[in-house]
Amino acid sequence: VAQKTYLFVANWKMNVPFDAAQFFFGLHSAQLQQIACSTGNTLIVCPSFVSLSEAVAAVRGTQIHIGAQNCSEHVSGAYTGEVDAVSLAQMGTEYCIVGHSERRQYYGETNEMVAGKVAQLMAVGITPIMCIGQTREQYKNNETKSALMNQLMPIFCVLRTAQSAVIAYEPVWAIGTGELPDVQHIAGITEWVRELCAAELPHAKVQVLYGGSVSESNAQDIMKDARVDGVLMGGVSLDFQKFKNIVSLKR
Ligand code: PGA
Repeated sequence: VAQKTYLFVANWKMNVPFDAAQFFFGLHSAQLQQIACSTGNTLIVCPSFVSLSEAVAAVRGTQIHIGAQNCSEHVSGAYTGEVDAVSLAQMGTEYCIVGHSERRQYYGETNEMVAGKVAQLMAVGITPIMCIGQTREQYKNNETKSALMNQLMPIFCVLRTAQSAVIAYEPVWAIGTGELPDVQHIAGITEWVRELCAAELPHAKVQVLYGGSVSESNAQDIMKDARVDGVLMGGVSLDFQKFKNIVSLKR
């Protein structure tokens, strides 16, 4: 059954300091709430860990949701500097991005670690937004599906009983570069991910997003022509006017 609304994720990365995050919600929550109500779209904003608590408080009573950008794959213990999923849930975090390519690239996250994070989130009722994507080389060598498969299989194992899942297809080379694959490619891959999920996760309602250089000018085409359930935005989510125009799009 085709869904009638979009899901939008703003990944602020490390671009919005604590005071700017507070300022953002103070200034824009009312307007975002209006958009969420009139479109029915799901809006998820992912600030850094330190801003989560204020962000949750700022959107209380609205349809805006707050997500984290990462969590530990361990439940608790001697892991200096890590943040546990239990605390995220206690703070009111409803979603959490996992397996972002920047985490994989710069912090050595493996597919198994990502699966561990998904397991921790599942255990506390936080919906993981799972990022998968291939490198430019894999894309050029026609290894996209095998690369994505390697990322998906460990995740599927921990999601067997999941009721819902969000997967974001983000070609690594499209992130922050302004360079996108064509809409046919996005349509083909996301459809393939959907079919895989239908076979592997028969109990889950799966939403498949696209991410990587989404802009005001391409968002509509990507969502309509590639039939994705929404988009994950980095750079463009930092410009409120542009972000607002994208999340206002109706399915
Ligand atoms: P971008 O980032 O929109 O700036 O390309 C997307 C992402 O990192 O998920």
